[in-house]
Amino acid sequence: MENQNTISTILIANSYGQSDVLSFQDYKFEGLENGFARIKTKVAGINPIDARRMTGEFKHAALPQTFGTEFSGEIIAIGDNPEGFKIGDIVLGSGGGFTHATVIDIPIGNLIRKPENISFEVAGSIPGVAQTAMTILDELGPIQSLLIHGASGGVGSITVQLAIERGIKVVGTASKRNLDYVKQLGATAIEYGDGLIERIKEVHPEAFDASVDMAGTEEATQASLATVKENGIISSIAGKRSSSPRVIPIWVKRNPKNLQHVVDGIASGKFNWEIDATFPFSEAAKAYTKVLEGHTRGKIVFTF
Ligand SMILES: NC(=O)c1ccc[n+]([C@@H]2O[C@H](COP(=O)([O-])OP(=O)(O)OC[C@H]3O[C@@H](n4cnc5c(N)ncnc54)[C@H](OP(=O)(O)O)[C@@H]3O)[C@@H](O)[C@H]2O)c1
Repeated sequence: MENQNTISTILIANSYGQSDVLSFQDYKFEGLENGFARIKTKVAGINPIDARRMTGEFKHAALPQTFGTEFSGEIIAIGDNPEGFKIGDIVLGSGGGFTHATVIDIPIGNLIRKPENISFEVAGSIPGVAQTAMTILDELGPIQSLLIHGASGGVGSITVQLAIERGIKVVGTASKRNLDYVKQLGATAIEYGDGLIERIKEVHPEAFDASVDMAGTEEATQASLATVKENGIISSIAGKRSSSPRVIPIWVKRNPKNLQHVVDGIASGKFNWEIDATFPFSEAAKAYTKVLEGHTRGKIVFTF
């Protein structure tokens, strides 16, 4: 075990607001807690939840708050561990107190090895969406048809591909610029907006077994109510209050085996994963502003 005392530059916010509340602070790690690995961060994905916590829409943590849930990087300190990880290993994963920082401490059980043929950008931006998409499909259970509202975003694009892998027929909504992308992922793509219900029924006249909403709009709720079977499941991951009691919220469950499944699929070329934009860590405010716009294709990431 080496480098137990380390300075990390971390992203923090002392108040809620737009990206101008973000600043950097040095943080000194002293010692390394049992069961944790210390990692020099190479890439960290920025999830909408980070930006929504910044604005105060979600107040999970006391101020000043830290950010980031996923990363790829290199182990710089670690004790003996049954998994056999050692200093110098290149890994990815999620969890810990924060990942928008130059050095992070992560529970060893959350780590998986980065395949050589995927980039640090892909590795550092897939843990959140992979584990969310797997949670969604596991919770929806054995279904044959699925309507996805917001199929081109981070969670949407992986959910489409995992659903197709399970033999589920998928119809996914997106804005006009992302329709071809959603089609390439294997779904029938339709544009959200006025006339959505009619467009859905045109391409999929039978009622769906289930739907999942990544956007949290009233339009998506109404479209699901009109096109999902009476005994079907209408779900949302958006974390927004819904006008209908039929909408079941789904929350991500961390599971490195689920992450491994998606990473293997990307490494083998079976699954597609796009990096929408890359920002140096020093430009955190610009990156968060772009995430807040809500039209990411794949994921926006920091490089360190
Ligand atoms: N519950 C959980 O555990 C959990 C886990 C992860 C994420 N989330 C939340 O789930 C949401 C989606 O996450 P994400 O990472 O996929 O976000 P994202 O990458 O920003 O994607 C957002 C998606 O929503 C679509 N969209 C935007 N406006 C829309 C509208 N009016 N109608 C239909 N679709 C619309 C976008 O499509 P276009 O770009 O084509 O407009 C895009 O596909 C976020 O709110 C996030 O905070 C929750």
